[in-house]
Parts: sequence; structure tokens; C-alpha cells
Amino acid sequence: MKKYFTTPIYYVNDVPHIGHTYCTLATDTFARYWRKKLGKENVFFLTGTDENSQKTVEAAQKSGKPIDQYLEEISHTWRKTWDQIGISYDDFIRTTEKRHVQTVHEILTKIHDAGDIYKSQYEGLYCTGCEAFLKKSDLDGNGHCPDHKKAPQKIQEENYFFRLSKYQEPLLELFSKNPNLLRPEKRRNEVLSFIRGGLEDISISRENAEFGIPLPWDEGHKIYVWFDALINYRSACPGEDFWAGVCHILGKDITRFHSVIWPAMLLSAGIAPPAEEFAHGFFTVNGEKMSKSLGNVISPVDLTEKYGRDALRMGLLSAFEFGNDGDFSLDGFHDLYAKKLAGGVGNLFNRVIVLIHKFLEGKSPASVVGSDYNPPIQFEKCLETNKIREAIQLFFSEVDRANERLNETEPWKLAKTDLPAAEKVFAQLIPMLATLTEMAEVLLPETFPKMKKMLGDEQKVGEPEILFPRVDR
Ligand code: MSP
Repeated sequence: MKKYFTTPIYYVNDVPHIGHTYCTLATDTFARYWRKKLGKENVFFLTGTDENSQKTVEAAQKSGKPIDQYLEEISHTWRKTWDQIGISYDDFIRTTEKRHVQTVHEILTKIHDAGDIYKSQYEGLYCTGCEAFLKKSDLDGNGHCPDHKKAPQKIQEENYFFRLSKYQEPLLELFSKNPNLLRPEKRRNEVLSFIRGGLEDISISRENAEFGIPLPWDEGHKIYVWFDALINYRSACPGEDFWAGVCHILGKDITRFHSVIWPAMLLSAGIAPPAEEFAHGFFTVNGEKMSKSLGNVISPVDLTEKYGRDALRMGLLSAFEFGNDGDFSLDGFHDLYAKKLAGGVGNLFNRVIVLIHKFLEGKSPASVVGSDYNPPIQFEKCLETNKIREAIQLFFSEVDRANERLNETEPWKLAKTDLPAAEKVFAQLIPMLATLTEMAEVLLPETFPKMKKMLGDEQKVGEPEILFPRVDR
């Protein structure tokens, strides 16, 4: 079995914030889990940047740089950010790359050859912020896009259209055959009712766009950015065996593109539709939408520099259920760090290893697993069903369980009167620490090697280390 995980490719009109990071970290967690289970060579993880957008043109103009230079620099910033926070992507695609343009041309030619593209007059309202056409009914009382607070552009031109309407029934059939094509259930139902409501053909080219990939059969037209962007997943696909195990992770804002337009494009081109899609929710910061104007945009790099990579992961991924909306606050984040990471995991490992050095001269206690020790077997199941927060909760409750065991048995007292009994306590704790270390390989990849080192081998434990140093609020 092979697994191919993708994140959305991000727009480059801005630098990454913790909203983008949330999606990328979740995908990274799945990739790490499956690598551990199936072997590195059977998992492929793709992320990248979505560059052929009108937003790009505007952002480049604002920066005063030529567009190529702007794109080069900002896509580098995205890549560097993922490196700084420890994202284990196998490939990073930019939609201005040759390999992508080539795949876009191949797929569009197939769709064209299938008779699913025609030319017609288009009149409509286009919002650059959304990179999408809006209906009058989508607008607010001022006639503005409700998300971007700007009046959409009126567009009237000859466009090429994709026969999306033709795929209404095939899509419904696809959904009924594949329960994994979009989860959770709530998002799936939304998309299903959208499809049942009737699909209209969509415009897929712009005659007057300054930037973008030209249509293979009519160079005068640039391809609509979403129609090109979705194809990135094929441009970087390492092989059909990986395609069979593709899983797109995305935000709830872009389900119609991924679960309606994308599978229809693939059906038309004669390519298998995605095996799996999962849409997560959005989060607010202290109850408010993150925005530049509110000044509450949080940089993942700042948090990582202060608290470390694993804290960022745990803070974002445990804040609320994966699939739901939720809230993130810096206070909550700090508390999690202080109580669960430093006070929980860090303290546990440090205490146990220090005590073993003190009373057993660092000798690994004979690893008799206590009869009452059951490792949390649901961990794998959680990660295989996208329940990341539950997986993290299992990890922390195991930490609590081990800390409680330590506090109840007080081996530091016991060792003075009954050393073999103390050794037995340590022998029960070591398998718990080993289980936590296994889980950490997926959840806390930066701390994992340190935990492993502290556990040592069958003869000796390692040197104690501070896993999560004190950080001031
Ligand atoms: N370029 C398109 C995607 C093309 S995929 C073929 C795009 N880019 S984006 O940069 O605007 O946003 C991508 C994703 O970032 C969203 O789908 C979502 O996963 C994530 N998020 C952005 N803000 C977020 C929050 N506040 N909360 C959670 N996720 C957020 O759309």
C-alpha cells in the first residue's frame, strides 16, 4: 500500500500564518504516522505554492518587484518557513514550474478532446480575493463580497467553459461509491446538497488576464487559476500507485473546488478521482478572525523560536477537534506548554531517568511489564481516522498515568528501604516511557530523538535532559 498526502497549495500574496500552518502540520502528522507504519518509501507528502493568480500580480506590484523575482522570493519564504518548523514534505511544487505547466496542458487537452470544453459569452461578477465568480445572491447589502468587503469586478468576455453540468450524476455516483471522498460527514453533506442543487458549467479561461498559464489550443486565453491549481496534485504525483492512495487535506473553505470541480475534471480526463479528501475547520484567535487589519496574525516562526517546534504542533493540533471550527489563544498555548509539555512529559522523563541514575546507577531496570499496563492501542486507529486531537489526548493521558504512578509509588522513598521494590516500579515505568516515545515519533518529532536517547538501551538509560525548558509568558 502507498499513501500520498497533499496540502492545498498556498497563495503567495502573503507569508504563512498559523492558519496555513495548522493544515500543513496536520498533513505532516499523517505523513509521519504512515511513514512509520508503511516505511518511508511508501509515503509521499506534497505541498507548494499557488502562483498563477491575480493576487500574485497585485502583490508583486505592491512590492515594487518584477513578478518573477517576487515569486522566487516569496515561494522561498514559504518553503523556508516549513523547513523552520520541521515539515517533512517530500516535494514542494510551484505552479509556475515547467513540470506543472506541462501537466496542465496534458490534462486540459484531454478534457478538450473529451468534448467538455466550449466557447461562449460570459457575463459575471468576479472576486479576486476569492479567485471565484460570485452570484448576486452571494453579495452583502452593499453589493460587496462578504469575505473580502470589496465590490466584485463585472466581467464580460468570450470565455471557454467546462461542462461541469454533465458531471452531476457521475459525481453523485462517485460519492455513493466512495465514503472517503470528502469527510467529515458535515462537509460531505454540504457538497452533496450543492451537487443535488444542480451544477452549472464554469468559465475556465480569462481573455484579458495578465498572468497565468495559456490554454494549449488558444494562447490568447489564460487558464482560470483554480483550474490550473488543482492539477498540481497530478503534476507532482510520484506514480499511479501513489495516486491510488492519494489523500487531499484541505480547509472547509475550498471543498467545492476539491470535491466537485476536481473530480469532474479528472473524470473528464479519464483519470481516477481522488481516493480520499478531508476538510478541517477554521480557527479564530481569541474569538476573532485573524486579519492584518486587526493586527492579530500570528507567525508560526515566532512561536517556534520561543517555544520549539513540537509545542507549535501540539498547541495548534490539540486546540480543537480536527474537522471542526475552534479557537486558538496564546494564553491557552502557553498553559499547554507549561503544564502538559514542560510539567507533564518533560518532568516525567527527567524524574524517572534522574532517579534511575541515583538509585540503580543508571542500570536499565529489568523490563518486566507490569500486569496492569495496557498501552493505548486506540492511538493508531485515531490517526487512521483523522482524529488527531484524540491521538494527542491519548498521549497526554498516558503521560498523566505515568506521572501518577510515580507519585503514588514514591520510588525515591521506597529505594531507601526496599530497593528491589523500587526497581520494580521503574521496570513498570520504562515501558510507559517507551510507549510515549513511540507516539512521539509521530507527534513530537523534534523531541523524539531526545526521549529515545534518555531511554537508553537494555543495559543503561541515557543521561537526563530538560526536554521543554522554562519559557516566560
Ligand atoms: N490557493 C488556494 C488553494 C489551492 S489548492 C489546489 C487557497 N490558498 S490559501 O492560501 O488561501 O488557503 C489555503 C488553506 O489555508 C485553506 O484551505 C485552509 O486549509 C488554510 N487556512 C487559511 N486560514 C485558516 C484559518 N484561519 N484556520 C484554518 N485554516 C486556515 O485557498
